[in-house]
Amino acid sequence: MLSVYLLTSLFACGEAPPPPPPAAPPKAAVPAPPPPAPVAAPAPTGPYTPDPLAQAAYDAAKAAGAEAKTNPKAGDAAASAAGKIQYEKCQICHGATGAGDGIAGAALPQKPSQFTWDERWAATTPGTKHWIILNGIAGTSMAPLGLTEDQAWEVLTYIEAELRKK
Ligand code: HEC
Repeated sequence: MLSVYLLTSLFACGEAPPPPPPAAPPKAAVPAPPPPAPVAAPAPTGPYTPDPLAQAAYDAAKAAGAEAKTNPKAGDAAASAAGKIQYEKCQICHGATGAGDGIAGAALPQKPSQFTWDERWAATTPGTKHWIILNGIAGTSMAPLGLTEDQAWEVLTYIEAELRKK
């Protein structure tokens, strides 16, 4: 009863009605749609001439006796599956499809190699690539990533079987 009295007397006194509640805060901006999935850059074609840093790595692999090694796991499906997991460490630079277009690669002074470039892929032996995966290419962002000998063969098996599949 008291409150009814108070209310009536309030309005009776000519008080302005209470202000409308403040407008609801604007809804949070709709998040931008995710960027489109990367489209594989076209593989370069034509002859490959190694730059001095890559050439130095090839020479070091040769001096270490790695050049002539062959991949003991080539074509092995289980090795390819294991290599796919290791490849997660590579795709930030070499790209999900091996086209050298990973997100970090764009910012590098020396672009990651494109595994899809036939002439470059053919220019080194599996043993040289294995040595590079284990030892990196000095002076570039291709650093050793801590793979074991077996894991390095497995990731090569994956690149051959899936990324270079024609
Ligand atoms: C931080 C970036 C980065 C990461 C991560 C990376 N690479 Fe590289 N990779 C490079 C760059 C840069 C080159 C050298 C390009 C050049 O010399 O022209 C290279 C070169 C190579 C080469 C030599 C290719 C050739 O024919 O000369 C191989 C093989 C290779 N990477 C494999 C891998 C594998 C496998 C992984 C993952 C385990 C990996 N890389 C991770 C940046 C990276």
